[in-house]
Amino acid sequence: MSKEIKSVNYGLEKIFEGAEDFLPLLGIDYVEFYVGNAKQAAHFYKSAFGFQSYAYKGLETGSRDTVSYVLKQDKIKLVLTTPLHSGHHINEHLAKHGDGVKVVALWVDDARSAFEETVKRGAKPYMEPVVETDEFGEVVRSGIYTYGETVHLFVERKNYSGTFMPGFVSWETDYNPESTGLKFIDHMVGNVGWGEMNTWVKWYEDVMGFVNFLSFDDKQIHTEYSALMSKVMSNGNGRIKFPINEPAEGKKRSQIEEYLDFYEGPGVQHIAVATDDIISTVSKLRVRGVEFLSHPPEEYYRAVPGRLEEHSHELREDIEVLKSLGIMIDADEEGYLLQIFTKPVEDRPTLFFEIIQRMGAKGFGAGNFKALFESIEREQEKRGTL
Ligand code: FE2
Repeated sequence: MSKEIKSVNYGLEKIFEGAEDFLPLLGIDYVEFYVGNAKQAAHFYKSAFGFQSYAYKGLETGSRDTVSYVLKQDKIKLVLTTPLHSGHHINEHLAKHGDGVKVVALWVDDARSAFEETVKRGAKPYMEPVVETDEFGEVVRSGIYTYGETVHLFVERKNYSGTFMPGFVSWETDYNPESTGLKFIDHMVGNVGWGEMNTWVKWYEDVMGFVNFLSFDDKQIHTEYSALMSKVMSNGNGRIKFPINEPAEGKKRSQIEEYLDFYEGPGVQHIAVATDDIISTVSKLRVRGVEFLSHPPEEYYRAVPGRLEEHSHELREDIEVLKSLGIMIDADEEGYLLQIFTKPVEDRPTLFFEIIQRMGAKGFGAGNFKALFESIEREQEKRGTL
């Protein structure tokens, strides 16, 4: 466990005591990916990750330009969108970035106020408030740009009782693979360019009212070859956490640089999803073909009891089982956490997923960074991008 992070201020409630939150966020509403073939991507997320069919729009529902499949697993909603003809503007996004996350949608009570308050504070508008209605009521959405071409949409659905939102129908299918136990999005990480981390930290502070509650510098996050810097931004109620990474100088090319090269700019690097039984979840994901980074070495697991210090007696899971699945373990002063990282889920080495189970710990696995990055570097080596 890294000693440096012991100064972390976990008392977010205290920071916000008395301060009015001008952007109350209820949670992450959905994450929308622009993909080359939404039908096939939907099949992958159902089969491999255990998402369920939820909502659909396409030619059959009168959508002539795009098709979208909405998948759900507990509180997580993914939207997969593909344009239906060459002239559509989404093609430019796909040609430049490949498949990836376009929208991180935030659930709010008032999408008009969210737009007004953030734009007033310097956000670049993406979508003026739009009201969509059907027989189930109305959904109001508005949106602003964040890093790169990524956007935050504000989704107000308090006057809506339908499945997803107007324009979509419930998507019912005969093929419904079982859930893998994924519950909600724990955090979503953005990669930004050289020297841009603090610009985006300030943006989240000024425009969204977030606070920086945890920082890691290149002295903490490095291997023999590469380094990065990261700051974790959190909203007022602590439900939304967006770490922001930038590359740092090292002997070789860091994974952040590799991402920026292949995504051709800043974007979402990974989505961390929470489970309350990581052994069951990861066992299922492995059987279904989800590819994880290579197992940490034997020495990593031998060092675990020493690294966990006072938390080693709290560990309920058998280290041998965790080792057999390649799950990593870290602790901070409030407890421990278990985590594992997939290989990129796109053809380009860009977006990947993290599976995380928190047993009291509120950190991000700083004690695992070295083992994790060495594992990523082994993959970079194979790709010729280290
Ligand atoms: Fe993470």
